[in-house]
Amino acid sequence: MKALVLAGGRGTRLRPLTNTSAKQLFPVANKPVLFYGLEAIRDAGITEVGIIVGDTGAEVRRVVGDGAEFGLRITYIQQEAPLGLAHCVLIARDFLGDDDFVMYLGDNFLIGGIQELVAAFEQGHYDAQILLTPVDDPRSYGVAQLGRSGEIVGLEEKPEVPESDLAIVGVYMFTPAVHDAVRAISPSARGELEITDAVQWLIDSGHHVHSHLITGYWKDTGRVEDMLECNRIVLESIETQVHGTVDDRTQITGRVVIEAGAVVEASVLRGPIVVGADTKIVGSYLGPFTSIGGGCTVEDAEIEYSIVMNASTVRGVSRIEASLIGKGVEVTPAPSTPRTHQLVIGDHSTVRLRS
Ligand code: TTP
Repeated sequence: MKALVLAGGRGTRLRPLTNTSAKQLFPVANKPVLFYGLEAIRDAGITEVGIIVGDTGAEVRRVVGDGAEFGLRITYIQQEAPLGLAHCVLIARDFLGDDDFVMYLGDNFLIGGIQELVAAFEQGHYDAQILLTPVDDPRSYGVAQLGRSGEIVGLEEKPEVPESDLAIVGVYMFTPAVHDAVRAISPSARGELEITDAVQWLIDSGHHVHSHLITGYWKDTGRVEDMLECNRIVLESIETQVHGTVDDRTQITGRVVIEAGAVVEASVLRGPIVVGADTKIVGSYLGPFTSIGGGCTVEDAEIEYSIVMNASTVRGVSRIEASLIGKGVEVTPAPSTPRTHQLVIGDHSTVRLRS
C-alpha cells in the first residue's frame, strides 16, 4: 500500500496567504497541517509516499524533505497546473504502479488517524473506498447519495441542490482500477478532472465502491474559519509545557505550551495557547485558542482565537480576534492624528476594521 498526498492546488480561498505559501504548510497549533496527515499515513504502516506539488513545490520540498524525519520515503511529483484531484492520480501513475493506495488531501485534517480505515479497505477487498461525514452545508463539498442498503448511488461535486448532507472526506482508498477511471473521464465545467467523476465511473462500470461513514472529527482547512476551528480542536488537547521563560508578573490560566527561547513578561495568558520558539510576549493578553508562531513579538496587544505565523509583530493594538496572520507581518497602530487607517495590504486580502 502506498500513499498519494495532494499538496498542490490554487488555494484561492486562503488568498493572499496562498499567493506566496503552500496552504498545506499553514500551522495548526504551530505544526503544519500536512504533518498531521503524514503522521497518520506513517501510523497506518505506509512508508512509500508520493506528494503532488504545484507552484509552491519548492517550499513543500524544503519543509518536508525526503521524509526520513517522519519515517517515510517521499517522492515528489510536480503537477504543471491544478487540473483536478483525478489529474493528480493520472500523473502519479508511474509512482503508484499496480499498488493499492490512500489518496490524502494535504489540507485535510482527520482526528483518529487512518489505521482502521486502511484495515477495513484491505479486509473488504473493495475496488475503492470513500469516507463520508454529515455536514451542515454540503454545497461546497463532494456529496454522496446512498441507496437503501447504504450503497452509493450517485456522487456530485459541489452541488447547488445537494441530494444528501453526506460530504466526501478528503481521504480515499483505491485499487489500480482507478487508473482506468481517471483516463476515461473528461474535465468538468470548471476545467478539472474531478475525483468524484472517477469514482462515479468506477460505480457505473460495476466496481465495488464502499462508503465508510466516519464519526470522528474531520475538517478541510481550505478557509480561514476552518483553519481557526481546526486550531481550536488541536489546542483543546494540549498539555502544559513551559520550555521558555515566564516572569512573575504574568498570570496564566488553563493549558499553555511555551516553546524554548520564548519570553513572556507582564502578560495575561488564558489557555489553551501555544507560543512558538523565541517569541516575545510583553504586556499583552492572549486569549483561548491562540497559536503564536516562532520568532514573533506581541507587545501591548490583545489576541484571541487566532493564528499568527512566524516572525510577525503585533504591537499596541486591541483586540484581534478570529484572525489568520501570515509570516513576517507587522500590525501596529497608526499615528493618533489624523484618525486614519494606514494599510499596505496584498491582493485578495480581507481586512475587517472596527470604526
Ligand atoms: P482544493 O482545496 O479542493 O483546491 P485548491 O487547493 O485549488 O483550493 P481553492 O478551492 O481554495 O482554490 O484541493 C484539495 C487538496 O488537493 C489541496 O491540498 C490542494 C490539492 N490539489 C492538488 O494538489 N492539485 C489539484 O489539481 C487540485 C485541484 C488540488
